[in-house]
Amino acid sequence: MKNKVKINPAKGKLGVLIPGIGAVSTTFIAGVLAVRKNLGIPYGSLTQMGRIRLGKRTENRHPLLKDFLPLTDLNDIVFGGWDLHGENAYNIACKSKVLASDLLDKIRPALEKIKPMKAVFDRNFVKNLDGAHVKSGKNKMELARQLMDDIERFKKENKLDRVVTVWCASTEVFTQIKDVHQNIEAFEKGLVENSPHISPSMIYAYACLKRNSPFLNGAPNLSVDIPALTELADQNKIPIGGKDFKTGQTLIKTILAPGLKSRLLGVRGWFSTNILGNLDGKVLDDPGSFKTKEESKLSVLDSIFNPDLYPELYGDIDHKVRINYYLPRGDNKEGWDNIDITGWMGYPMQIKVNFLCRDSILAAPIVLDLVLLTDIAHRAKMYGIQEWLSFYWKSPQTKVGLPPVHDLFKQLSKLENTLRFLMGETLINNLGLDYYYGEDLDIDSSKEK
Ligand SMILES: NC(=O)c1ccc[n+]([C@@H]2O[C@H](COP(=O)([O-])OP(=O)(O)OC[C@H]3O[C@@H](n4cnc5c(N)ncnc54)[C@H](O)[C@@H]3O)[C@@H](O)[C@H]2O)c1
Repeated sequence: MKNKVKINPAKGKLGVLIPGIGAVSTTFIAGVLAVRKNLGIPYGSLTQMGRIRLGKRTENRHPLLKDFLPLTDLNDIVFGGWDLHGENAYNIACKSKVLASDLLDKIRPALEKIKPMKAVFDRNFVKNLDGAHVKSGKNKMELARQLMDDIERFKKENKLDRVVTVWCASTEVFTQIKDVHQNIEAFEKGLVENSPHISPSMIYAYACLKRNSPFLNGAPNLSVDIPALTELADQNKIPIGGKDFKTGQTLIKTILAPGLKSRLLGVRGWFSTNILGNLDGKVLDDPGSFKTKEESKLSVLDSIFNPDLYPELYGDIDHKVRINYYLPRGDNKEGWDNIDITGWMGYPMQIKVNFLCRDSILAAPIVLDLVLLTDIAHRAKMYGIQEWLSFYWKSPQTKVGLPPVHDLFKQLSKLENTLRFLMGETLINNLGLDYYYGEDLDIDSSKEK
């Protein structure tokens, strides 16, 4: 293929800035530090362990993604972030009890160096938290400027070439798009006038987009998913993405649901319940934050089952999602799914899934892949919403009016074809008739090549 996109090389260092130095972010950072020292294996990371098929099936070309793509080397990443507790990443990683202390101790000095900057925080948006390590300013615009200064200083002090920011902070209460979010003028006026509808995550996103940092939103709150900020991202030519890392129960849902749908098994009900005892669970115990998460988790089935087109099969699904804060589980979330399905002649069957997962262990490789792939997008001058990264999101952000794709396998195919396109390789559509009919069929444009 001739239309190879120019991707600027990954020269110099890449800064990764993280609002929220908690369980997910410290598990991600510690994991990367461990991989650098050969102390651990990055299971779950496509960029580190995945391969991609290129060309025809008979060519047997399956390079590792990290050899195929001009990715930033893990040794060239510098970490930083913000939080309202002010404790270093080592202390938080120990408190989070995700990774074992013998591993953390081997990378302790590097983790201790990561001390969060003061946060932009507002209890109106996260009810179950409080902390003193927070910024103050006369209005939200001033807070945004302080964040911009932080980004500049972080870049300068660490001699960075570029920065990617990933929101790994707590889920904010459910908010809907208001007038102040509709365009950048209204939004900036709202920042100056302290609009109560502008949340801290939006202030971070705004500051990042003003300082040339892509912004990725790991939580389900709106954040960068408002017209004003998507407009700013397009204007400033910066990639953005969200929302809500697709881990645990929703990952399983978007693996199972496409399978049931492909065999046209009906679904009458899907009851999902979770117990977890980490800080995220405590935050989600507040009904406002839970509502944000619930909306994100509920959205996936409709797009996979498409009840409008298949009313007999999926027109009346009773889909329920529950999250309960249950201290003894810690970060090891337990998810239960009961799926009531219907087969031939309407006979009912049930599927039960009990997933004993580890929330942050599932989230960490997603953070790494998103950072590295978004950095490539930035260097390839792709900007705005990066729908090709839907694979990683529970509630993928798309252009207004464009329905998101939730099916994990379609998402993977979109991601892989985007990478083939970026690298000038032929796209793969899995038609494969050319292996059987050669030139007998006029299938040039649709060859599986
Ligand atoms: N772990 C998963 O599988 C998973 C999956 C999808 C989404 N998420 C989301 O990722 C986020 C992080 O999860 P976690 O388990 O690490 O939570 P956590 O509670 O351990 O960490 C969140 C951190 O964010 C900080 N924080 C809150 N508001 C902030 C602000 N305005 N600025 C800076 N820091 C702020 C908190 O003090 C805390 O240290 C949550 O929103 C969670 O819902 C996690």
